[in-house]
Amino acid sequence: MEKFITVAIDGPAAAGKSTIAKRVAKLLNYTYLDTGAMYRAVTYAVIKAGLDPEIEEESVKVLPGLKIDLKEDGTVLCNDEDVTKVIREPIVSSKVSYIAAMKPIRLALVDMQREMANSKNVILDGRDIGTYVLPNANVKIFQIASVECRAKRRYIENLEKGIPSTLEEITESVKKRDYIDSHRDFAPLRKAEDAVEIDTSDMTIEESVDAVLAVIKEKTGIEIPCH
Ligand code: DC
Repeated sequence: MEKFITVAIDGPAAAGKSTIAKRVAKLLNYTYLDTGAMYRAVTYAVIKAGLDPEIEEESVKVLPGLKIDLKEDGTVLCNDEDVTKVIREPIVSSKVSYIAAMKPIRLALVDMQREMANSKNVILDGRDIGTYVLPNANVKIFQIASVECRAKRRYIENLEKGIPSTLEEITESVKKRDYIDSHRDFAPLRKAEDAVEIDTSDMTIEESVDAVLAVIKEKTGIEIPCH
């Protein structure tokens, strides 16, 4: 049976995990799975159904029959609807931490993630991949950056996308999400004991990609293509 390689990248919000994971996946020809997008898709489904995303008994009503597809081109489908853009809107971002703290929702999504990861070479990014979803992942990375740095990156991203925001607002929201993500009861954000920590505060995207590739090479012995 072919042995597939699994790379887990966990870390706090806005640490650049998805940017790095996407680039590494492309270089290695691995499938990239954005698990945060799945929590966002559920949040969207809850709001769309007119339910309160802060109340578990209401939110879990969307679970029966829920279908989430992460396409290779980055498109996210929720019950066959293209939600790629709307799940990045503030209405979803401001509620997703509540949804991600609900155990029945986590269990349902973790099942889907394990299923998606078991038959190919994959890179997943999230909060609990190395600690809970795939504790036997071949490579575990904990990617961090300072709050100031993450807030500044998100602020510049918003400016480029024309989304109005202030640096103070974003700093507060990053801190709040850090707190909720790392203080929830079930599968909180935490560095796995065998994860390699990479602090990207003073790194460019290219340097961060190289740092992740170096860990993958060290842990798996695979050849890294020239890039
Ligand atoms: O990475 P992101 O900002 O798209 O994640 C959205 C939310 O989902 C965030 O509050 C953390 C949560 N999340 C999680 O709890 N576990 C994961 N594996 C991925 C994301």
